[in-house]
Amino acid sequence: MDKLIIQGGNRLHGEVLISGAKNAALPILCAALLAETPLHLTSVPALKDVGSTIKLLEKMGVKVNRDGDKVSLDASIIHSKEAPYEMVKTMRASILVLGPLLSRFGQARVSLPGGCAIGSRPVDLHIKGLQAMGAEIHIEHGYIEATTAHLPNKRLQGARYYMDLVTVTGTENLMMAATLAQGTTVLENAAKEPEVVDMAECLIKMGAKISGAGTDVITIIGVERLNGAAHNVVCDRIEAGTYMVAVAMTGGEVKLLNVQPKLLDAVIEKLRDAGATVSCETDSITVKSDGQLKAVNIRTAPHPAFPTDMQAQFMALNTIAKGMSKVTETIFENRFMHVQEMQRLGADIDIEGNTALVKGVAFLDGATVMATDLRASASLVLAGLVARGETVIERIYHLDRGYENLEQKLNALGANVKRVT
Ligand code: EPZ
Repeated sequence: MDKLIIQGGNRLHGEVLISGAKNAALPILCAALLAETPLHLTSVPALKDVGSTIKLLEKMGVKVNRDGDKVSLDASIIHSKEAPYEMVKTMRASILVLGPLLSRFGQARVSLPGGCAIGSRPVDLHIKGLQAMGAEIHIEHGYIEATTAHLPNKRLQGARYYMDLVTVTGTENLMMAATLAQGTTVLENAAKEPEVVDMAECLIKMGAKISGAGTDVITIIGVERLNGAAHNVVCDRIEAGTYMVAVAMTGGEVKLLNVQPKLLDAVIEKLRDAGATVSCETDSITVKSDGQLKAVNIRTAPHPAFPTDMQAQFMALNTIAKGMSKVTETIFENRFMHVQEMQRLGADIDIEGNTALVKGVAFLDGATVMATDLRASASLVLAGLVARGETVIERIYHLDRGYENLEQKLNALGANVKRVT
């Protein structure tokens, strides 16, 4: 098991290139299943989850060519409509093959994703939405068995569906399913995350008729078929936010390249409240800080509110900021796994239900800590960058799922991070 060894105390300076978004790349890779001719993607990040998704698609028969950040996928011939447990258990986002398989081939057998560290993470809304489009779905031996054989032309039927919770991959799954359905689908209370918008833009290039992506009502008019297209994956706003918090905490000045400031309004606002200087150009953001920060209250909620995927990173910031702060997590029921690890570094945090009360301390002291989920791992790296002495982070395979070349990018900015295999 790899671990990271971080010597804290270095300020960060320089430029960092932000990669394509994991949470846009994963659903867009699955959208390739809808196309009868090749889909050409660029800015696909080199992450474990991307590798897992490509492996799953190849197992179904998709021909995939990968050259750095360029990925071409040819799903003209598919011989398996199944996503097996051993693949889904390592990556929940595999559920995103359900909509495309059902919509183009009329059948799918997808393992129910288990829970994960941050919560039970059910997929009931994915299933109810597909049932609203006429799919016959039952759960058998831990698998979602879905078919449209009983429907006219064996195709999903357009429907109006209200999601009683805002779900990002639920919106994405149903949007993909609706592209080849017969008739019009209206998704209400849809997720507005930039990654949903990016996927819609890619589907439209493939021939889908979609309007309203980025608002809470998305309308999809079903078409006969979709073809491949060329699409550049949107930048990863969460990777960007993570580096912005890093330099705010360590002090210094860092320019982030290939990032769209408009995707990060809530994060930029909070960093400015904390006392960092944030200046934005069209496709770059510069963060300057003296490392002396004020604590900021955080409450996560669906986009455009403060993103849950940045909660752990701001908790790390608050542990060494001046004053008291409240961090409230409203999306997942168990997304405070990083708290007890931060307490090992000397953080002063009390949890009351879904709110953490953080009291800023003068400094953190390096220790050995354990990563539990992707963003929690990132927050421990941030804490290690400012802690006195050495911090060792174990189980960093979580990090590799969502951050491309993390230690290289941090060391290029002046950090002292070593990976030990
Ligand atoms: C996506 O997960 C992201 N993953 C997550 O990023 C992100 O934290 C999350 O959206 C929220 O923004 C990908 O896009 C691959 P949800 P997703 O469905 O779609 C409940 C990361 O760190 N819910 O929006 O799985 C659910 O339990 C990852 O990159 C149901 O109850 O999240 C949660 O409480 C972590 N039933 C809430 O809705 C459903 O059918 C929001 O979940 C679906 C969801």
